[in-house]
Amino acid sequence: MTPLRIAVLGAGLIGRRHIETILAMPEAAKLVAVSDPVADPDQVDLKGAAWFTDETAMLDQIKPEAVVIATPNGLHLKHGEACCQRGIHFLMEKPVTATLEEAALLVRRVAESGVKTLVGHHRRHLAAIQDAKAVIDSGRIGKLVTASVIWATRKPDDYFHATWRIQPGGGPILINAIHEIDMLRYLCGEIASVSGIISDAQRGFAVEDSAAALLRFDNGCLGSFTCTDAGFSPWTIEQGSRENPRFLYSGQSAYRLTGAKGSLELPVLRLWEAQASGEAAWDRPIRATALPERYHDPYKAQLAHFQRMIRRNEPSVVPVVDGARTLAATLAIARSAEQGRLLVPERFIA
Ligand SMILES: NC(=O)c1ccc[n+]([C@@H]2O[C@H](COP(=O)([O-])OP(=O)(O)OC[C@H]3O[C@@H](n4cnc5c(N)ncnc54)[C@H](O)[C@@H]3O)[C@@H](O)[C@H]2O)c1
Repeated sequence: MTPLRIAVLGAGLIGRRHIETILAMPEAAKLVAVSDPVADPDQVDLKGAAWFTDETAMLDQIKPEAVVIATPNGLHLKHGEACCQRGIHFLMEKPVTATLEEAALLVRRVAESGVKTLVGHHRRHLAAIQDAKAVIDSGRIGKLVTASVIWATRKPDDYFHATWRIQPGGGPILINAIHEIDMLRYLCGEIASVSGIISDAQRGFAVEDSAAALLRFDNGCLGSFTCTDAGFSPWTIEQGSRENPRFLYSGQSAYRLTGAKGSLELPVLRLWEAQASGEAAWDRPIRATALPERYHDPYKAQLAHFQRMIRRNEPSVVPVVDGARTLAATLAIARSAEQGRLLVPERFIA
C-alpha cells in the first residue's frame, strides 16, 4: 500500500503524538506538512516536513491527501469543513466538534463531499477492547444484561492552572467520559436514554469534577457509570490497558459487563462462566478465565486503519456521524443533570 501524504493541523499535546506516530510508520504515511500559528517549530521533530502558520495556505499549497485535525475543539468544524471543501480525508480528534449544532453541520458537509473520516476515539483500536468485543459478539456471555463502568483518577492541582479547564466544557465529562461513552456504544450498542447527575463538591470550580449516569441501551442492557477527576483510584481504562504512559499500570479492570450466560471484566480481560454446562444460575459454581493480554499502540493501529480506509475502502470504525452520536450521548449527561430529567440522545442521520 502506498503511504498517505498526510499533514497535521495543531502541534500541541496530541498533535505531537500524531506526528511521532506518522514518523514512526513510514509504510503507512509520509508527513508532508504541519500547521500551527502558535507552536514553536523548533520544538517539533518535523523530519523535513514543511511548517505553516496558516492552515488555508498549507492545504492549498501542499494539497495533502489526508489531514489529522488536532486543534482546539472550537476549531474542529472550521477545519473539517476546510477539508471537505478540498476533498481531503481527515482524522478528527475527539470531540468531533464543540457542540451538537456544529456536529450536525459537519455530518452534512462530510456526506455532501464524500471524504472519508475517522474520529480519534483511539481506544477502539486497543487490542484488549477488540478482544472484549469479539467475546461479546461471539455470544459466549449471552445477551448483555448490565454494564458497570468507573473512570476515577485525581488530576494534579497544576492541571487546573489552564483556566479553560475550570470552565464549563473543560471538565471530565467532555475530556474523559466521552471516551467511556464511545466504548460503551461500541461494546454494548446504541444508547437509548441517559439520566445524569453532576457534582463540583470536591474543587468548587464552575465545571463539574464528578459525574454519574444511568444508561439504557437499545438492546435493553442497563449501564451505570461514574466518572471523576478528583478521586484517586486504580480504576481507569488507561491504568488497566497501558494505553497512556502517563497512567501507571494498575492491573485493574474498570468495566464489568454481565450477560445471561457469563460476565466479562476489562481491560484486564477476565471471563466468568459456569463451571459446567447447563443453565447458568446463582447455585451453580462459577469460574474465571484470564484471557491472554495483547497490546499494541492504539495510535499506530488507528493510523494503519486510516490508511486502509483510504487505500482499501475499509469502513471507518468511527466516522464523523458516529463521533457525533458519542458526543450527543456524552453531552446528555450534563444536560440531563441540568434539567433533572432523563434524555434521549440525538442520533444524527449519516
Ligand atoms: N484522543 C485523546 O485522548 C485526546 C487527548 C488529548 C487531546 N485530545 C483532543 O485533541 C485536540 C487538541 O488537544 P491538545 O490537548 O493537543 O491541545 P493543545 O492546546 O495542546 O494543542 C492545540 C494546538 O492547536 C494549535 N492551533 C490553534 N489554532 C490553530 C489553527 N488555526 N491551525 C492549526 N493549529 C492551531 C494551538 O496553537 C496548539 O498548539 C482537542 O480537541 C482535544 O480534545 C484528544
